[in-house]
Amino acid sequence: MSYLEITKDVYREAALTPDVGLCCTTNPIWELPGLKIPKIMQEMNYGCGSTVHARDLTNNPRTLYVGVGGGMELLQFAYFSRMKSGVVGVDVVDEMLEASRKNFVEAEAQNPWFKSEFVDLRKGDATALPVEDNSIDVAAQNCLFNIFKTEELTQALNEMYRVLKPHGRLVMSDPTCEQEMNDELRNDERLRALCLSGSLSIKDYVKALTDAGFGTIEIRARKPYRILDPKNYPTEELIYIESIEVAAIKDPMPEDGPCIFTGKAAIYYGDEDHFDDQKGHILLKNQPIAICDKTAGALADLGRDDIYISESTWHYDGGGCC
Ligand SMILES: C[S@@+](CC[C@H](N)C(=O)[O-])C[C@H]1O[C@@H](n2cnc3c(N)ncnc32)[C@H](O)[C@@H]1O
Repeated sequence: MSYLEITKDVYREAALTPDVGLCCTTNPIWELPGLKIPKIMQEMNYGCGSTVHARDLTNNPRTLYVGVGGGMELLQFAYFSRMKSGVVGVDVVDEMLEASRKNFVEAEAQNPWFKSEFVDLRKGDATALPVEDNSIDVAAQNCLFNIFKTEELTQALNEMYRVLKPHGRLVMSDPTCEQEMNDELRNDERLRALCLSGSLSIKDYVKALTDAGFGTIEIRARKPYRILDPKNYPTEELIYIESIEVAAIKDPMPEDGPCIFTGKAAIYYGDEDHFDDQKGHILLKNQPIAICDKTAGALADLGRDDIYISESTWHYDGGGCC
């Protein structure tokens, strides 16, 4: 069976019989005033983090969600946009589209503000999205792209880039792994479909995003996800998998390379009231400023003894340089 057939098989099953252990989210369910998430949506939460961030969702953004699962995050996005077809949902598995459609009817019964028509469900593949060019403000996927091998991942990212408006953002959550995985794990299509053996290192994941053209990358969170142990998986060493939450913004690519925020900050603690690097970065005395890795490198190269540069915290929540 091809990778797509195996993936469809796994998610057809997960649509027909909710599988609470699939993927293992480490996030508590988002609670917002007046938002009730039906139990069935919680049971079908097959993500590994959250892609719904209030700060991305001002001014009624048109949202796209690829790989709908039980529909929980689409309902959360609809909470912010509250308009007909404000959220477009794409999935390649008929049964998953059908299950989420039913779940939206249940959500409508529990949430007076919500109407099923807020979500426009479309059958389609992440590698050929049924969505017009430059039409989306916020695109999201949760725990899907890690399933793809290089060629499909490149196509899927190019598709997200194509449909986003300029400065639109792609918000994602996926497993990542800093250890080498052997070929048996890598090529096991079922383990890949279960989001267990396809994950890239953060460096390679970010590179795939910048290769697709995204000029700004934000790593917003990094957390423990799963263990592959030699007793249960074809590996001789214990493999530790994490999950990250990332936003890739369709900003033009800067001439000197992408701005990648990994949660570093610079603090100027010298004799003046500020430090100006003459490249657009002003560091007020004793005030941490979030900096991208490129700026961190440039400031470190100055060799000054009055600027402190923190390690990556893998938690970036906006602001700062660039
Ligand atoms: C791991 S689940 C994640 C579901 C949802 N994002 C969540 O967080 O609960 C992967 C989803 O992607 C869908 N899917 C799998 N392959 C796909 C593809 N090539 N294109 C679009 N959707 C796909 C599956 O049917 C399933 O709904």
